[in-house]
Amino acid sequence: MTIPSNWHENFFHGVSLDLWRKAISPKQTKDEADFLIKVLQCDAGSHLLDVPCGNGRLSFELASRGYHVTGMDISKEFIQEAMSRLSPPADAGGTDKTLANSAPANSELEFVLGNMRKITGEAIYGGAYCFGNSFGFLAYSDMESFLGGVARALKPGARFVVETGMAAESALTKFETEASHQIEDILLTIKEQYLAEESCIDTEYVFERNGQSESRLAKHWIYTTAEIRRMLERAGFEVLSLYGSLKFEPFLLGSDELFVIARRV
Ligand SMILES: C[S@@+](CC[C@H](N)C(=O)[O-])C[C@H]1O[C@@H](n2cnc3c(N)ncnc32)[C@H](O)[C@@H]1O
Repeated sequence: MTIPSNWHENFFHGVSLDLWRKAISPKQTKDEADFLIKVLQCDAGSHLLDVPCGNGRLSFELASRGYHVTGMDISKEFIQEAMSRLSPPADAGGTDKTLANSAPANSELEFVLGNMRKITGEAIYGGAYCFGNSFGFLAYSDMESFLGGVARALKPGARFVVETGMAAESALTKFETEASHQIEDILLTIKEQYLAEESCIDTEYVFERNGQSESRLAKHWIYTTAEIRRMLERAGFEVLSLYGSLKFEPFLLGSDELFVIARRV
């Protein structure tokens, strides 16, 4: 099978979004927001970039704690969902309120449909994060564009926090050619192949629900932690710390996740 390098631009709609909504509990979102607030080290009221933001689960949580958040994502469905949560209810009087007016108190929230490879703007944000295992979607040159865009968009000294389960030290130690997970009413079967010459994992996801089956293809680029560090440094970041969990455990061979705390130089 040949999986195009931009698979991620067409993967996130319908059942794959339903799976994500069901897989992440409200508690996980709260725990991740607690972690982000500790490591971003910027005052409430600061402007944060959530990229990719999905349906804005973390944007809303951080906005409820007083941050101004801009969420960017390429999925029309997720961005529409996030924006619909911003819209005032039909019976709340009028349709002329701005989106920000109906955001949680003391905060501002906005959502942008866009590609993480093409982040624009300079020295706008006081912090940024890439969560939800979204750091392995991009091939090397696209990763350079992404990290360069985030670096430019951050103010000097601002922090960028990355969460990923796809660092080599995590993904390859747990590699399985086939696995199944029942997530509420969706049975997900994952069939994987490791392409050693490209350091990629090609995956077929089969979603089964209500007697219907749908297959989608994905490709994850596997970077070692040292490569991630070098890519960040080349883009203009200093890597401050690495953790293996939201509880600040050390990142080790076999850790499920890698959290990178970087600072825009
Ligand atoms: C697994 S979800 C995670 C979403 C969010 N970070 C979270 O933690 O809930 C991955 C997201 O990446 C988005 N995505 C994939 N490729 C993208 C791209 N090139 N630019 C912007 N968003 C992208 C998808 O639309 C999807 O919402």
